[in-house]
Amino acid sequence: MEIVILPDAAACGELIASAMAELVERKPDALLGVATGSTPLPVYQALAAKVRGGSVDVSRARICQLDEYVGLPAGHPESYRSVVLREVVEPLGLTEESFFGPDGAAEDVAAEAIAYDRSLAAAGGVDLQLLGIGTDGHIGFNEPCSSLASRTRIKTLTRQTRLDNARFFDSLEEVPHHVITQGIGTILEARHLVLLATGEGKADAVAAAVEGPLSALVPASALQLHPHATVVVDEAAASGLK
Ligand code: F6R
Repeated sequence: MEIVILPDAAACGELIASAMAELVERKPDALLGVATGSTPLPVYQALAAKVRGGSVDVSRARICQLDEYVGLPAGHPESYRSVVLREVVEPLGLTEESFFGPDGAAEDVAAEAIAYDRSLAAAGGVDLQLLGIGTDGHIGFNEPCSSLASRTRIKTLTRQTRLDNARFFDSLEEVPHHVITQGIGTILEARHLVLLATGEGKADAVAAAVEGPLSALVPASALQLHPHATVVVDEAAASGLK
């Protein structure tokens, strides 16, 4: 695992956007797995700036989701489909056709999760998966005690994660209890994992993931198993490292 410590979130965003741009240059139809939440926004903004500036052509790149809330109506502004369309697909000048994710409004969520794993494989697998990390060490929405071999499935969010995500909704009650998330085993199949963490609030989780034992109690520690994992942190998020 390589650890890159940079001064701030903007520098982290720029570095990862450059890695994505280089990947797309090498492999124009690369499949980029994107995370939602606040942390990755500087990455998407930096990549969109490169597209606008003409230094990279992402027109053949494909985008896929890491996870999705269950039960939000189609088109809800906080569904991850809406967020990825707004923050990634549209700013990169891509169309909805280049983007796919699990349907959180599916009638049979279990079947939808299995189908999503299959569609990732059918698409040739994820080339670069960007990950955030929860304050409890989750990746995707694999909360502590998720199996390290888990596949895409329905999960229940912990109270802490619902509290963390309440800022995107009008009230805590509106935050869904369930999600479809790529499993840890699914995530580990991506060719390159890039975990981004910024801010002091992530320092303990980063230290546990990087320097702690491999443990289902800290799902992000599963990156230790991956042959090509990069952890990009700002100085605040790195402050718990030895
Ligand atoms: C979101 C996701 C989550 C977030 C994590 C951190 O798609 O998979 O694991 O990456 O909850 O969220 P932020 O970046 O908002 O602190």
